[in-house]
Amino acid sequence: MLLPSYIEARKRTKSTVEKEDYYIDSSFKEIGTGKKYYIKTYGCQMNEHDSENIKAILEELGFTESKSYYEADLVLLNTCSIRENAHNKAFGMLGRLKHMKQLNKNLIVGLCGCMAQEESVVNEITEKYRWIDFVFGTHNIHRLPYVLKDRLSSGNQKIEVYSKEGNIVEGMPVKRENHYKAYVNIMYGCDKFCTYCIVPYTRGKQRSRNKDDILNEVLNLVENGYQEVTLLGQNVNAYGKDFSYSYNLENLLEDVAKTGIARIRFMTSHPWDFTDGMIAVIKKYDNIMPNIHLPVQSGSSKILKLMGRRYTKEEYIDLFNKIKLIPNVSVSTDIIVGFPSETDSDFKETLDLVDYCKFDNAFTFIFSPRIGTPAAKLKDETSLIEKENRLHILNERVNKYFLENNKKMIGKKVKVLVDGISDKKGMIYGYTETNKLINFSGSPDLIGKIVQVEVTNAKTWSLDGKLC
Ligand code: SAH
Ligand code: SF4
Ligand code: F3S
Repeated sequence: MLLPSYIEARKRTKSTVEKEDYYIDSSFKEIGTGKKYYIKTYGCQMNEHDSENIKAILEELGFTESKSYYEADLVLLNTCSIRENAHNKAFGMLGRLKHMKQLNKNLIVGLCGCMAQEESVVNEITEKYRWIDFVFGTHNIHRLPYVLKDRLSSGNQKIEVYSKEGNIVEGMPVKRENHYKAYVNIMYGCDKFCTYCIVPYTRGKQRSRNKDDILNEVLNLVENGYQEVTLLGQNVNAYGKDFSYSYNLENLLEDVAKTGIARIRFMTSHPWDFTDGMIAVIKKYDNIMPNIHLPVQSGSSKILKLMGRRYTKEEYIDLFNKIKLIPNVSVSTDIIVGFPSETDSDFKETLDLVDYCKFDNAFTFIFSPRIGTPAAKLKDETSLIEKENRLHILNERVNKYFLENNKKMIGKKVKVLVDGISDKKGMIYGYTETNKLINFSGSPDLIGKIVQVEVTNAKTWSLDGKLC
């Protein structure tokens, strides 16, 4: 058994990260023949993309995908640790799976993702969830065939979680459900250690992928007809900081733009590493989408300091103003309310910042203490009712600006990458360059194509339009 440790996960060493090529021996390729798998994915795009790798690995082992966990021989939960409700969802699902396993002894249940990297979770699994067949972490997805084979041959619970990041594994197979939009990892891990956040512990130290590996992946996607790539990382603006040579997100964005892919998005940006050079490149290339996700977390410099965000309210606003000079840009954000010691006046500063920035979209959360992080130890005197009240007020405020911004779009002609069929008959939907959801009447044949649409109506979270 290899178990995770908080102490090890916190360490950052100078040791260089090597590149390793994915390989599985042909002897593994029969493990899943005639069997079905089901993966339930929680959390962020990073996890979604990991699930695309995991699916492809399982299919190399002979498994086929089942759309329902009732019919599956293997159920895998790819979990998220970011807030308590993500934990609760996964544990709720485990309750259901335990019941299913009592009815079907042959069902295999595995757990992976960020919760697998948490010492407290894995301790609980080894003590109270002996029926879970196997656990592997975010650093050893490529080891899944070995973990599974070991479990099947030994009959014992198999846990293999590296506390520290391993090598960057290139060449893992990937099963992309979407044939025109793709996620491309550009870096793994995070070294920012915001005091509330579990990610630096569950995803390890920052490691950037080599430029050539990224560009080859994008070129391959272009050849296969993909229209959009989203460059993924917990803090993409710090891309390349771990290289011994000089190559950063500004350079990468420019090189990816030159591949000719129609649309490039990137996320998430931490304000700290956002440079003027990046802004200039975004302005220069039409295929870099003018949509920036710039999490602010709080409008109070006092709270930002306690959060370890490394910028003040004023510095955030200066950067915001520079970004707003990108023509037609939309800016979205993340905000946490109820951080320990947040007072009414701190919260008011957050509302004032929202009034100033008028974000196009915002993800809002109540602070959730995560075991092992510094903020979990801070004294917190605000009641849950008060925090819920703040969240409610904040949501009303951000929603007001979503609608206001959307209304300004009425009458404009926008380019839309068509994504799918709407619930309403005869309607399809897609996303504008600024990442706004728009519904309009059109043929499903347009899915995967970029079309011109005139905006005819605005709602809080979406637009209506007509093809033009
Ligand atoms: N790397 C990204 C954020 C990833 S997590 C960034 O730094 O911008 C996504 C969001 O979850 C964060 O921006 C934050 O708003 C929220 N979040 C993270 N930890 C949280 C916690 N302990 N409680 C509540 N919200 C949290
Ligand atoms: Fe978490 Fe901060 Fe890293 Fe984002 S930048 S993943 S919030 S530690
Ligand atoms: Fe959750 Fe891990 Fe992503 S904690 S938000 S799945 S990096």
